[in-house]
Amino acid sequence: CRVVVLISGNGTNLQAIIDGCDDTLTADVIGVISNKPDAYGLIRAHQSEIDTSCVIPHLNESREDYDARLLESINKYQPDLIVLAGFMRILSNNFVEKFIGKIINIHPSLLPKYPGLHTHQRAIDAGDSEHGASVHFVTPELDSGPVILQAKVPVYLEDDVEILSERVHEQEHAIYPMVVKWFSQQRLTMQSGKAYLDGNLI
Ligand code: GRF
Repeated sequence: CRVVVLISGNGTNLQAIIDGCDDTLTADVIGVISNKPDAYGLIRAHQSEIDTSCVIPHLNESREDYDARLLESINKYQPDLIVLAGFMRILSNNFVEKFIGKIINIHPSLLPKYPGLHTHQRAIDAGDSEHGASVHFVTPELDSGPVILQAKVPVYLEDDVEILSERVHEQEHAIYPMVVKWFSQQRLTMQSGKAYLDGNLI
C-alpha cells in the first residue's frame, strides 16, 4: 500500500507511522508533502530516506488553485492512501471527493466533540473528565467523516493545555499507525459515508 503523508509541522504522527510501517510488509510511506518549508516532519522524512515535496501557498491563491497544485504533487506518487498528519489546511470539496475512502485524518478530540481548533482548551473549559483523539475518514465537511478509531485519556483538574495535549499525542501515536496498517491490509473501507472494519460497521 503506497502511503503519502501530508504535514505542516513537527510530524510526530508521521514518525509513528514511519516506525509502524517498519513492522508491516503491507504499508510503505513513499512521500511526504508539506505546505510549510520549515516543517520538522520534512527532516524526519529525509532521515528515513523518504521523498518529500513542498507545496507552498502563493499570496492570495484560491483554495481551488492551491489544491490543484497539491493534487499534481500527490499524483506523482500514485498513492493508495493519503494520511493527513497535522496538515493545517482545509481541503476543498473537489479535492476530497477525488480521494474519498482513501484519505484519513487524525483529530485531537473525541469526535463528534470539538471539530476545528483549540480542542484541548475546549475540553478543559467544558470540565470534561475525558478527552482523546480520533482517526476518521475525510469527507468534505471538516472533521465530520466517519470515525475509525478513538483513544480516550482522562482529564485531571490540574491539567493545562500542554500536559493534556501531550497525553493525547501519546495516544495518537498508538492509534494512527494501527489504522494505516488496517487500511493497508484492506480491512478498512468506507461505503455510503460509513466506515467498516472487516466488513463490520464501526
Ligand atoms: C496532532 O495533534 C493531530 O491530532 C493534529 O495535529 C497534530 C499534529 O502533530 N491534527 P504532529 O505534527 O504529528 O506532531
